[in-house]
Amino acid sequence: MDIIKEIEEQLIDKHKHNIFFDIYSFSNENIRGYVPLFDLKNKSLLTVGSSSDQVFNAAYVGCDDITVCDICPLTEYYYYLKLTTLLMYGRDDYLKYLCQSFLGIDHSNELFLNKEIYEKEKDMLKRLSYEAYYIWDYLFNNYDRETIAKLFRNDINPIKDIINSNNYLSSDKDYKRLRNIIQNIQVNFINGNIINQEYGRKFDNIWLSNVAHFLNQGDVLEMFYNSDNALSDNGEMLLSYFWHPIISDKDFLSEAFNNMDIDQIVIPGVSVHEDNSILKYTKKKR
Ligand SMILES: C[S@@+](CC[C@H](N)C(=O)[O-])C[C@H]1O[C@@H](n2cnc3c(N)ncnc32)[C@H](O)[C@@H]1O
Repeated sequence: MDIIKEIEEQLIDKHKHNIFFDIYSFSNENIRGYVPLFDLKNKSLLTVGSSSDQVFNAAYVGCDDITVCDICPLTEYYYYLKLTTLLMYGRDDYLKYLCQSFLGIDHSNELFLNKEIYEKEKDMLKRLSYEAYYIWDYLFNNYDRETIAKLFRNDINPIKDIINSNNYLSSDKDYKRLRNIIQNIQVNFINGNIINQEYGRKFDNIWLSNVAHFLNQGDVLEMFYNSDNALSDNGEMLLSYFWHPIISDKDFLSEAFNNMDIDQIVIPGVSVHEDNSILKYTKKKR
């Protein structure tokens, strides 16, 4: 499989490290803060995010048709590893197994990418996605956890903030509730560029959160108009965070989105001590 070769380049050859290959083990944004702003129950969602936490949080409130488009080629494989762990293990083990501590591996956390945990879950992983199993099995059998960890971003938030950002992680009850829901949902994955991806269908909701800082203003506009084409009438789009200089540039905003139905909405930040602000666009029926 070519993907294995690409993964090994990421693991072994520092000079070939590609940031668009990095997996975010958990969301680094407060998804809990913006979920209530969208009508997701029995609706469709297109989202970005290699952590797949957007999928879990949307499913948690009844969204039943979810597509993830992410440039990271490991997104789908990581989703199935995370899903299998969610279905087989409790909330504490799930967090410890998948969450690298803030700024690197916490060697006192023996559960992080623990081979025994993997061995126990691999049959289920194989049933859920043979491709994902093929990749994780190769990795767990050929590399130690310190090496596999190089596939993940390590600038992820501390566990307390991760819990605070995800409704499904609030309590054991919420976590188990998601378990029952997620098994009935079909999630589609596109490994592609959100700027100009063609979907061949429409979505009721689109979340373009946390991508603008990879883009220039031209890309942001292209991404917006391309996504607008894929949005249903009266559909709603989350356009990243207002703190980002591109998104918050007033001249850019007034020129680019003149006469458009866009609101700036303050939401709680990841940490309880800060606020974020997002842009939400509503597509009026034409
Ligand atoms: C800053 S990260 C935020 C991670 C996100 N909060 C999560 O939960 O995974 C941005 C995400 O967008 C993806 N991404 C960046 N540029 C992209 C592009 N042009 N097209 C599709 N995905 C992109 C990255 O791979 C990553 O998953």
